[in-house]
Amino acid sequence: MNLIVAVDEKWGIGKNNDLLFSIKEDMAYFRATTMGKVVVMGGNTLRSFPGGKPLKNRVNVVVTRHTDEDVIAVANLDELFCALKDYADEDIFVVGGASIYHQLLPYCKKAYVTKVFADGGAEVFFDNLDEMDGWTLATKGEEIKAGDYTIRFDVYQNQTVKKYGE
Ligand SMILES: NC(=O)c1ccc[n+]([C@@H]2O[C@H](COP(=O)([O-])OP(=O)(O)OC[C@H]3O[C@@H](n4cnc5c(N)ncnc54)[C@H](OP(=O)(O)O)[C@@H]3O)[C@@H](O)[C@H]2O)c1
Repeated sequence: MNLIVAVDEKWGIGKNNDLLFSIKEDMAYFRATTMGKVVVMGGNTLRSFPGGKPLKNRVNVVVTRHTDEDVIAVANLDELFCALKDYADEDIFVVGGASIYHQLLPYCKKAYVTKVFADGGAEVFFDNLDEMDGWTLATKGEEIKAGDYTIRFDVYQNQTVKKYGE
């Protein structure tokens, strides 16, 4: 599986159960990367979407202790790994939030990281991949002007991917 995340300059990713920024270039990148794929998220991230509704045209798998008829709801990581057996590993994208990224990071091969060069005043953070053993910056994107922000689309690679569902 892979993951996709947008981080600020402190690796912050959210506050008040919402994103730090609304950047249309990043939204388009997220849509293009995940369209038609399987998106794995935590309960808070699902509840942060408009109306608490799943992402359209994607298989939504939600790790939650609650039930939800609109998505594939799994109660823990064992159930998640079982559910993911039905899909090709390269089609699976972890889309947050902080708790789910942290728990699934060891199982991810690639991290698609949008860097936003600003301080969003975050309350929740992603692990700093520049300081994490086993992770290397594989692709450093060009810096792009996106509205009021400068952003960059980077890709990190995990050299020590943990296998799941065995
Ligand atoms: N910048 C980005 O790219 C990005 C992307 C996504 C989200 N975010 C932000 O991240 C924040 C949300 O992160 P978060 O850490 O609070 O929430 P989260 O990871 O989305 O969800 C946490 C919830 O997931 C469920 N959960 C997590 N681990 C579980 C386990 N092992 N077994 C069963 N259930 C489990 C529980 O759900 P229940 O409470 O439903 O039982 C838990 O309350 C928001 O601010 C959001 O906007 C940022």
